[in-house]
Amino acid sequence: MVTFAKSGQQLLWDSSAGSLLDFAETHGIQVNSGCRSGGCGSCQTTIQSGEVAYDNAPDFDPEPGSCLLCVCKPKANVTLEA
Ligand code: FES
Repeated sequence: MVTFAKSGQQLLWDSSAGSLLDFAETHGIQVNSGCRSGGCGSCQTTIQSGEVAYDNAPDFDPEPGSCLLCVCKPKANVTLEA
């Protein structure tokens, strides 16, 4: 389950979505983005609870407690500030 706190949406993760950025956009949730490949940090979002996973370590190093939506997926239930 993915919760977008600011948008007030709670959605069941769909692994075919690819990344949390694509997933958010598919559901009309406004998130910043740029490179969409883990390099610029535009999509950095605070993780309020839960954990995410990266297939490959991104080039941009997200701040502790944040994630790069364009290259991560939920590991378990996650609440994001978006
Ligand atoms: S959009 Fe550039 S790091 Fe996610």
